[in-house]
Amino acid sequence: MSGGHEAQLPCTFVIFGATGNLASNKLLPALYHLEAAARLSESLSIVAFARRPWSDVEWRDHMRETLAGRIGGKLDTPVFERFIARFTYQQGDLNEAASYQALAARLPPPEACSSTVFYLAIKPSEFGAVIHNLEAVGLNKPRGLNRVVIEKPFGEDIESARMLNQLLHEHFDEEQIFRIDHFLGKETVQNLLVFRFANTLIEPLWNRNFIDHVQITVAESIGIEKRADYYDRAGALRDMLQNHLMQLLTVVAMEPPAALEADALHDEKVKVLRSIRPIAKRAVHAHAIRAQYARGTIDGRPVPGYQQEENVEPNSITETYVAAKFYIDNWRWRGVPFYLRTGKRMAQQSSMIALRFRHPPQQLFRETPLETIAPNWILLSIQPDESMRMEVHVKQPGLDMNTRLMQMNASFLKTDEQTLDAYETLLLDVIEGDRSLFLRFDEVEWAWRVVDPILKHWAVEREYIPTYPAGSWGPADANRLFDSDDQTWRDEL
Ligand code: BG6
Repeated sequence: MSGGHEAQLPCTFVIFGATGNLASNKLLPALYHLEAAARLSESLSIVAFARRPWSDVEWRDHMRETLAGRIGGKLDTPVFERFIARFTYQQGDLNEAASYQALAARLPPPEACSSTVFYLAIKPSEFGAVIHNLEAVGLNKPRGLNRVVIEKPFGEDIESARMLNQLLHEHFDEEQIFRIDHFLGKETVQNLLVFRFANTLIEPLWNRNFIDHVQITVAESIGIEKRADYYDRAGALRDMLQNHLMQLLTVVAMEPPAALEADALHDEKVKVLRSIRPIAKRAVHAHAIRAQYARGTIDGRPVPGYQQEENVEPNSITETYVAAKFYIDNWRWRGVPFYLRTGKRMAQQSSMIALRFRHPPQQLFRETPLETIAPNWILLSIQPDESMRMEVHVKQPGLDMNTRLMQMNASFLKTDEQTLDAYETLLLDVIEGDRSLFLRFDEVEWAWRVVDPILKHWAVEREYIPTYPAGSWGPADANRLFDSDDQTWRDEL
C-alpha cells in the first residue's frame, strides 16, 4: 500500500515450488508485470527452487513457455530478457538439509545483501519442513529482515494453525512473516475501503437500519485442475471460505480503522471476527451446507464430476461447494445475516459482494399500477470485471405511475487502464515490507474459530455428500439458509 526505501529492499527472492501451479499461474506473471512496470530494483535476483533436475537453461525455457502461455502476445522481448536474466534455478528437495545448504551457498553473504524473501508456493503439508530447514542453515537470519511468505490455508484447523504459528515464531520474528490471502490484493477489496470510507453518502447507510442482508459469492467455473492431492484433503471450506470469503466479510463489516496502517486494520478485522456468533453444534445444519459437483456441462462442453477427476479418492466426500450463514452480533450488524457461498464448476466465473437494502417503510405507491417495489442493491463485482453498481428505482416516462430499475454503474477501469492481478500488489508489498494486506495470526485464528464447529460436524458425518451438476449454481438446498421468503441468491449482476 505504501512505498518502501531502496536501502531496505531485499536482494534475493526465492520461490519454493517454482514449477508448481501457483508459481506458473500467479507468481511468475505477477513478477513479470512488475518488471514491465519497472518496479523491481535492478539488483534483485530470483532463485527458482524445485525438484526437477533442470539446468538454468531448461528452467528459462520452461519460463518462456509458461509466460508465453499466460501473457501471450503481450510478452515484450526486452522486458522478458531483463526478467529472465534475474533467474537462477536451484534443484532441491524440500525435505533435505543438503538442498538448503546448496541454496545458502548460492545466496549473497548478509554483509553484501540486505535481505532475502522466501516464498512458500508449496503444499501446506510441506511448510514445516521448509521452516525447520531454513533455520537449520541460518537463513531465518538476519532476524527482522529475511522474510517468509506463507500461502493459505494457514493450517487445516485451529489446532494445526496454532502449531504452525508457534513453529514460525520459534524461528522468525512476526515482522518477518507474511501470511498471504491474495483476495486482499484484489482491487475491489481495496476499493471497498475507499467506497465505504471516502464517500460520505455511503457510510451512514452501511448498517442494520438499512441493510437487510449481505451476500458474498465466489463462483468458479474451473474444476480442481490437477490439484487433487491438495484439494481432496482441503475442500471448499478450507480452501476458500475460511480465508478468502471470511476476509471479504471482515472488510465489508469492519468499523473505520484509526489509520490506514497494518495494525489498525488488523484490529478492526479481528473485532468483526470476534463478534461473529458462534454456531452451536446442533445448529450447524441450519447454518451451513456442502455439496460436490457431479458431471455436467459448462459452456456447452461436457465436464467430469469431482469423483472422476484425476487422483481424487474413490467415493471422496470432499465438498467443492459450501454455503454458510453468519451473524455479527455488534451494534452495526446485529440481526443482519451474511450469506457466504463458493463453489467449483459453477455456471460462471463470477465473484461479488451484494448488499440488499430493506424495503421502504411506507408503501406509498400501493394504489398505483406499481406492484411491490423490489428493494435496492449495492453490487460490488470482483470477477470477471471489477465494478460497483447501485440499483435504484426511477419513474418510467409516461402517463402511468410505473417505475423501472436502473443500475448506476461505476466501473473501476477507464478504457486505457489495465487490471492489476492481486499478486502484483502483494508481491510488491512483500518486497517493500508493507504488511497491511497480510494477515496477523489472530485474524487467522479467529477465522478458524468461526468455521471450526462446521468442520468438526462434517468430520463425523462422513457417509454422504449431496451433489450438484457441474455448470449449475450449486445445490437448490442452499436456499434453505435464508431467513425470510423474500431472500434469494443473487447470481447475476
Ligand atoms: C486459491 C484457491 O486460493 O484461490 C483456488 O486455492 C481458487 O482453489 C483461487 O481457484 C481463486 O483465486 P482467483 O484469484 O483466481 O479468483
